[in-house]
Amino acid sequence: MSKNSHLGVVILAAGLGKRMKSPLPKVLHEILGEPMIIHLLRKTFRALPECEVAIVVGHGREQVESTIRQHAEFSALCSQQKIIFVTQKQQRGTGDAARTAMDSVWGQRQIQKKSNILVLPGDSPLFTESLLQKMGEPFDSKNKNCVVRLLTCLVQDSTGYGRVVRKGKTEIAKIVEEKDATPKEKQIREIAVSTYLFDSKFLANALPRLKTQNAQGEYYLTDVLAMPAKIKKKSEILCWENEADVKGVNDLWELSQAEALLQKRVVEFWAREGVRFIAPESVTIETSVKLSSGVKIERGVVLKGKTEISPHVEIRTGSVIQDSVVEEGSMIGPYAHLRPESHVGRESKIGNYVELKKTKIGNKTSVAHLSYLGDATVGDRVNIGCGFITCNFDGRVKNGSRKHPTIIEDDVFMGSDCQTIAPVKIGRGAYVASGSTITKDVESDSLAIARTKQEIKPGYAKRLRGQS
Ligand code: UD1
Ligand code: CA
Repeated sequence: MSKNSHLGVVILAAGLGKRMKSPLPKVLHEILGEPMIIHLLRKTFRALPECEVAIVVGHGREQVESTIRQHAEFSALCSQQKIIFVTQKQQRGTGDAARTAMDSVWGQRQIQKKSNILVLPGDSPLFTESLLQKMGEPFDSKNKNCVVRLLTCLVQDSTGYGRVVRKGKTEIAKIVEEKDATPKEKQIREIAVSTYLFDSKFLANALPRLKTQNAQGEYYLTDVLAMPAKIKKKSEILCWENEADVKGVNDLWELSQAEALLQKRVVEFWAREGVRFIAPESVTIETSVKLSSGVKIERGVVLKGKTEISPHVEIRTGSVIQDSVVEEGSMIGPYAHLRPESHVGRESKIGNYVELKKTKIGNKTSVAHLSYLGDATVGDRVNIGCGFITCNFDGRVKNGSRKHPTIIEDDVFMGSDCQTIAPVKIGRGAYVASGSTITKDVESDSLAIARTKQEIKPGYAKRLRGQS
């Protein structure tokens, strides 16, 4: 094969995923907020930008297809046919899935182009870019008859995986599945991880020769690996060192384990970019989150979606932030909750038990304790006292929206235990007395008091106790 040969990628994603015990198609199960197949696709296109992908779908086909077609990153690739879908009508094994792809128009085109075919399992979200790059590399032109590259890994516990039976030091005799392995073969710790590079013509010729004489009565793609030796062709083995990278997901426990491994990778990346984690094993940081150097993250923090945290922000214990932005030098939490579309300016403080939703907070503003702000715009240098609530929902639907805006301008002082009934505006520099319920706009620089006057009845308490 020449160096510039084309690359077709076949992703096997049609299986029932029975062991997941869930109606959701296996490859759509999420780790760190995104489906497994999305993680795999992203890394595939980063590592091999020129490749053409065929995804074999079957079980839950519509759902898998529409998730990928509607994904912001992949919809264009779908319309350019860089990602196509082929349907495996019956799930008769990984060999049958690969055959479905090779028998399709897409597969025929790959054969014409003399492509190499990289086969990947849809249930391996931890593959790294460097692994995919190495597996996608053309066969070495010096090794003329080579038609297969097999990815293997030496693991502690090989239970459940196909075992690689070698012939001599570098050749493959065969791969045996757990259910077909003899006790001796079960001892083998070198596993196959459903990842292979094939010469397209070899693969297309090999697939129709597969038989179903095995414990599961399926067409095993792994059986193709015994063929090159029989027709005087060669194969090579890429033994991957890092076991964590090749971990597959077959049930929900393995899903949790894969998620923990990916999380460790994400946290390590940010730590090396200058983020201080107090208890790295306790946090959830989705892959879409952007952090900065000098950020400090305490125990049990959860950061999700398109969240962006600027330098020198401190996020304290137990805080949750989703799809929100925090600017330089601000302090969040402990136990704060920033719901989607919130934006906190520079050097502001969002303290304990404060919830923000679709709210913009300016610079040097403090919302320090026990408050809820929804659909609000708050200016600079504002002090919001303890227990403040924007009453933004009136229970009715109006023009499609049920929420009303609250505007609190710069330098406002909001006393403790206040509520504002939206829509309402508190003008620049105004004071709102503690315990007020504000229903009308407050002019700039004025004082608003909206609470019942205090009355004192001397001796009344004593009389009530019957001690007149
Ligand atoms: C497979 C390999 C095994 C390897 C393991 C590593 C075979 C026979 N076995 O076993 O050697 O150690 O992966 O991850 O290949 N699929 C289809 N159509 C089907 C059957 C499966 O598309 O008819 C897809 C599944 O959706 C999945 C992938 O192929 O994404 C692998 O199938 P799975 O059932 O998980 O195979 P394993 O038992 O894990
Ligand atoms: Ca699997």
